[in-house]
Amino acid sequence: MALFPAANEIGIATLVDRFYDKVRADEELGPVFNAAIHDWITHKQVLRDFWSSIVLRSGRYHGNPMGVHRALPAFGQQLFHRWLALWRETAREVFDASAAELFIGTAERVAQGLSMGIGHGRLNIDHPSRVLGPLHIAS
Ligand code: HEM
Repeated sequence: MALFPAANEIGIATLVDRFYDKVRADEELGPVFNAAIHDWITHKQVLRDFWSSIVLRSGRYHGNPMGVHRALPAFGQQLFHRWLALWRETAREVFDASAAELFIGTAERVAQGLSMGIGHGRLNIDHPSRVLGPLHIAS
């Protein structure tokens, strides 16, 4: 049994918190994120706004994810797979199956857009989720 049966603000805050705690400690992802982000409180707040804009249509996010990722030092396609593996694991800890799938399918789609946009080409995702959030951001 996960913590939350459906997507809501407190669930999104929990997901974002747990996910970036794992990212920071991760051997592959940690160095990239820790080099770029010095204010984690603000970063997590931006990511809460991003997810609540997509999944709950709150309209709070006004950033440009493609521009932000293009400006980062180059990193390999493998990092996207690691990012998605941690995201899937955390989404399933925090949300029951159908809500978790919404966050997973949406992240896979955004990851595809970012990967194409920063020149890594299409990600080869095994069994991609078809469940998508309502808004199109960063594609
Ligand atoms: C290998 C995969 C990824 C890496 C290494 C990565 C890395 C980063 C880093 C380092 C930042 C902070 C940049 C800064 O503030 O200077 C960032 C911001 C962000 N990332 Fe990613 N990212 C990845 C994948 C994703 C995916 C799949 C999503 C969405 C599903 C995503 C969504 C965002 C958003 C919304 C921001 C904030 C942009 C803003 O400031 O408005 N990232 N990412």
